[in-house]
Amino acid sequence: MKLLTYFLIWVFLLEVQPFEIPTDGLSEFAEYEDLVELAPGKFQFVPENRRHQRSLSEESGEKMEDADQVTLYSYKVQSTITSRMANTMIQSKLVNHSPQPQNVVFDVQIPKGAFISNFSMTVDGTTFTSTIKEKTVGRALYSQARAKGKTAGLVRSTALDMENFKTEVNILPGAKAQFELHYQEVKWRKLGSYEHRLHLQPGRLAKHLEANVWIIEPQGIRFLHVPDTFDGHFDGVPVISKGAQKAHVSFKPTIEQQRKCPNCSETAVDGELVVMYDVNREEKAGELEIFNGYFVHFFAPENLDPIPKNILFVIDVSGSMWGIKMKQTVEAMKTILDDLRAEDQFSVVDFNHNVRTWRNDLVPATKTQIADAKRYIEKIHPVGGTNINEALLRAIFILNEANNMGLLDPNSVSLIILVSDGDPTVGELKLSKIQKNVKQNMQDNISLFSLGIGFDVDYDFLKRLSNDNRGIAQRIYGNQDTSSQLKKFYNQVSTPLLRNVQFNYPSPPITDVTQNSFHNYFGGSEIVVTGKFEPNKLEQLQSIITATSASTDLVLETLAQMDDLEDFLSKDKHADPNFTKKLWAYLTINQLLAERSLAPTAAAKRKITKAILQMSLEHHIVTPLTSMVIENDAGDERMLADAPPQDHSCCSGALYFGSKVASASIPSWAQPSPTPVMALPAVGARPLESTPPPHVIRVENDPHFIIYLPKSQKNICFNIDSEPGKILNLVSDPESGILVNGQLIGAKKPENGKLSSYFGKLGFYFRSEDLKIEVSTENITLNHGSRTSRLSWADTAHIAHQRVLVSVKKQKVVTLTLGSDMSFSILLHRVWKKHPVNVDFLGIYIPPTNKFSPSVHGLIGQFMHEPKIHIFNERPGKDPKKPEASMEVKGQKLTVTRGLQKDYRTDIVFGTDVPCWFVHNSGKGFIDGHYKDYFVPQLYSFLKRP
Ligand SMILES: *[C@@H]1O[C@H](CO)[C@@H](O)[C@H](O)[C@H]1NC(C)=O
Ligand SMILES: *[C@@H]1O[C@H](CO)[C@@H](O)[C@H](O)[C@H]1NC(C)=O
Ligand SMILES: *[C@@H]1O[C@H](CO)[C@@H](O)[C@H](O)[C@H]1NC(C)=O
Ligand SMILES: *[C@@H]1O[C@H](CO)[C@@H](O)[C@H](O)[C@H]1NC(C)=O
Ligand SMILES: *[C@@H]1O[C@H](CO)[C@@H](O)[C@H](O)[C@H]1NC(C)=O
Repeated sequence: MKLLTYFLIWVFLLEVQPFEIPTDGLSEFAEYEDLVELAPGKFQFVPENRRHQRSLSEESGEKMEDADQVTLYSYKVQSTITSRMANTMIQSKLVNHSPQPQNVVFDVQIPKGAFISNFSMTVDGTTFTSTIKEKTVGRALYSQARAKGKTAGLVRSTALDMENFKTEVNILPGAKAQFELHYQEVKWRKLGSYEHRLHLQPGRLAKHLEANVWIIEPQGIRFLHVPDTFDGHFDGVPVISKGAQKAHVSFKPTIEQQRKCPNCSETAVDGELVVMYDVNREEKAGELEIFNGYFVHFFAPENLDPIPKNILFVIDVSGSMWGIKMKQTVEAMKTILDDLRAEDQFSVVDFNHNVRTWRNDLVPATKTQIADAKRYIEKIHPVGGTNINEALLRAIFILNEANNMGLLDPNSVSLIILVSDGDPTVGELKLSKIQKNVKQNMQDNISLFSLGIGFDVDYDFLKRLSNDNRGIAQRIYGNQDTSSQLKKFYNQVSTPLLRNVQFNYPSPPITDVTQNSFHNYFGGSEIVVTGKFEPNKLEQLQSIITATSASTDLVLETLAQMDDLEDFLSKDKHADPNFTKKLWAYLTINQLLAERSLAPTAAAKRKITKAILQMSLEHHIVTPLTSMVIENDAGDERMLADAPPQDHSCCSGALYFGSKVASASIPSWAQPSPTPVMALPAVGARPLESTPPPHVIRVENDPHFIIYLPKSQKNICFNIDSEPGKILNLVSDPESGILVNGQLIGAKKPENGKLSSYFGKLGFYFRSEDLKIEVSTENITLNHGSRTSRLSWADTAHIAHQRVLVSVKKQKVVTLTLGSDMSFSILLHRVWKKHPVNVDFLGIYIPPTNKFSPSVHGLIGQFMHEPKIHIFNERPGKDPKKPEASMEVKGQKLTVTRGLQKDYRTDIVFGTDVPCWFVHNSGKGFIDGHYKDYFVPQLYSFLKRP
C-alpha cells in the first residue's frame, strides 16, 4: 500500500562527520525511513546525540547541546505571482555560536505539485549549487561520490498536500550556513479565488524574518484578502498594498513580535501566511496574453445559468467507514443534498460487499425527495467489505438507463461522485480490470469524481480512475474536518456552466497547444490553455471558443495584440518575463505525466517519458523523472534530490476535465497564410454591440451593406438576414446589360441561436461582351459562349476578354474592370481551415462612380440614384453607446442607430472602422420594397421589376 509519498534526499555530511550510516541499496528507501524523524515543516536544529548520529555522540561523549547556540539570523520567504505563475524562494541564514559542531536541518514545506527549480547552499564558505539530471544519471553521480567514503542521510516527506524538502548538514563552531530553495507553481482558481499559501516555520526566533508576496495581474485585481492565521497572534502585522493590477503583502514581525509570549524564546511564527485574490473579468471569451513566444489563455466566464446535472452519489459504507468517517460523510451529504437545484436529478448508491440504492432511478431534486434521501443516509450502518466495481457499474447503469429512456435533458451533464476509504475487498479486486470496466461502461458522457478518505485508500487508483473518465480525484484526510473537505470539493463541481468547451487557435503560427478540449467548465474554476508561436510571425492572435451553455451554443472570440503586455511587464521589477513559458512548461509536463500514467503500450510510455525528461532538463525543474544533483565547486561533495515517484499528476486538483489530452487534440490547420478576418460583404453593418474592449473584435456575419451616399456624405448600413442557398440581386441594369448576383452560404454552425450567412459566390454578367464571370471562394471562372477559362485564387494573374479585364491578387482580391467607367472589387476572406464556425466568404465593393443606366436597380444598384435623406433628432439610445436618430427617406420616417462597420480594402485583417447609420429590419424603408423582392432564381437572372 502506498500511503505516503517520499521525497528523498541523500545528504553528504561534511568531512568532520566521522560516523557512517549504511547507504547500500539506493532503491530500498524503507530502511532509511526512521533516520530523521522531525515534525514536518520546521527548521530544526538536531542535537547531536540524536539516535541516528549515535556514533558521533558516543565518540565525543558530549551532552546534548543547547540548540540556542545556533542563531537563525535571517529567514526570508518571497513569492512573485505573474498572471497565476508563482515563483517562490525560501532562504535562511544561520550561525553556529556553540563550541561544538552542530547538525542543522533545512526542512521546508512546499505545495504538492510545485516544481523545484533551484537549490543552493553555502556551508562554512563552501558553496553548493544544483543541476538537474536524468534520474539514473543523478544516481550514478551520487554513487560515485559515495564511493569516496562519504556518508549520506535520508529525509522523507510526511505531509499530504504538502511535500517536504529537507537537507541536513553539520556546521563547525563559528561557521555559517545559508540555504536557498526556489520552486514554481501555477495558481488554480477554486471556488472563485486563487489561494497562495506560504508555510512559515522558522522553528525559532529569527533576527530578520520577512515574507513577501508580490502579485502582478494584467487583468486587474478584483479583491485581495489575507485571512488571519497564526491564531491571531500577528493581528495587523501583515501590510497589504493593493493597486489596480499589482499588490504586495509584506509580513515582517520584529523579534519581539515573534515571541510566543513576552519573555518566551519560542516563536509564534509557525503556520501559513495565506493570500487570496481574484482578478477582474470583463471578457466572456477570457483573457488571452501573448508574450515572449508563448500565449496563455485564461477562461473563467461568469453570469451563466447553471446546466442541470444528473448526479449519482456512490458512497462506501463498508466496515472501515465506521465512526467518524461515516458521521462526517453523512453530515456532508446532508448539506450537499440541500444544495441540489430544482432542475437536477439524483440518486444515492451505497455499497459494502453488496450494492444498495436509495432509488433505482434518478429522481428530481424536490424538497420531499431530498428529505427522504437524507433520512436514508442517516440510517446507514457501515459494515462489511468493499465492492467498488459493482457499485460504480450500478451507478453508470442507472444514468445510462435514464438516458436511454429519454429521461435526461439533452443539455444536462451526468456526474458520479464516489466516496471511498479503502481498496476493493469483494467482487472484482483487480484494479486494472475495474478501471477497464468503468471506462467501457461510461463511454464519454459521464464524469467521475473520486474522493478518497484517509490513508487506507489507494489514492493513485482513484486518480487514474477519474483522470480516465473526465474527472479528478481528491484525498480527504479523514479527521474532524472531513465533512467540510467533502463539501468544499463538491462545491467545486456543483455548478456546471458549460459543456464541450473547445479552444481553437490558428495553426500555424500556433503550435504545441496544451489540452484544448474540456468536457465541462464549472463555476468558480478557470480553464488555462497555453501554446507556442514563432514570435516574429505573430502580430495578433485570434482565438475562438465554442461551448454549450444551459440555453444555447456559444461562440466566443478574442483577438489579442502582440505587444499589449510588453510595456506593462517591463515596468515592474517583480514581474517575471518568463511567466508564459513557465506556464506552458508546467501545463505540458503535468499533462504528459497524466498521459503517461494512462499510456496503453510500453512504447507509448517510453515516448512520453522521453518528452517529459527533455522538458524537465530544458526548463530546469525537478519532476518525477529527474533528480537534482547538489554539489560543491570541487565536485567532491554531492547530494541528490528526487521528486516523489507518483504524485505530480495533473495539476494538483485543478479542475481539468479534458475529454482528450493534448497531443491528440492539437488542432492542425493546414493552410499556411490564413489570417483571421472579419466579414464584410459589399459593405455592411449592424448596430454597434456594447463596445468591445479594444483588443477584442467580434466577427460580424451576414451580408451586410454599407451604402455611401456622396451628396449627403453619409454612410447608411443594413443587413439582410436570409437563408443559405438564396440568390440576391445586387445590381440589375438590363438597359446596359450588366448584372451582379450573390449567392448566400451559411456558417458551419449557429452562433447564439442564429446561423450567419455570407456571400459564397458572385455572378457577373456583361451582355456587351457576352461574358459571365463566376467568382467563388474556390474558383474564378469566365464563360464566353461554350468557352470556359479559369483563374485561381492561388496566383496573382490577369486575363483580358475584349473590354473586360479580370485581375487576381493572390488570395486577396479580384478586380473586374469594363472599360474606364465600370469596376468591381471582390475581396476574399479566408478563415483558418478548421475554424469551428466561420467559412470562407466574399465581399464586394462597387464604386459610386460606375456609370450605370438610369434604370439600374438591385439591392445596391438602386442607390446609384442617390435618395434624399434627412437625419435629425439625434438622441441617446437604449444603449448609451449607441445613439439613435430619425431618418426621413423615400417619404418614410425610420429610427436608425449609430453603428460601426469595417471596410477591408486597405487593411484586410482589421479593416477600417466606418461609422454609419444602421437601418433595422433588413433595410426596410431604405431599400425599395422588401428584401425578398430581390431574390432571383439563377446566378444570371435579371431582377423582374414589378
Ligand atoms: C540557482 O541559484 C543560485 C544561487 O542563487 C544561482 O547562482 C544560480 O544561477 C541559480 N540557477 C538557476 C538555474 O537559476
Ligand atoms: C519577564 O521578565 C522580566 C525580567 O526578566 C520580569 O520582570 C517580567 O515580569 C517577566 N514577564 C513575564 C510576563 O513573565
Ligand atoms: C452515453 O452514450 C451512450 C451511447 O450513445 C448511451 O447509450 C448512454 O445512454 C449515454 N449515457 C448518458 C448518461 O448520457
Ligand atoms: C528568462 O528566460 C531566459 C531564457 O531561458 C533567461 O535567460 C532569463 O534569465 C530568464 N529571466 C528571468 C528573469 O528569469
Ligand atoms: C473549382 O475548380 C475545380 C477545377 O479547377 C473544380 O474541380 C471545382 O469543382 C471548382 N469548384 C467550384 C466550387 O466550382
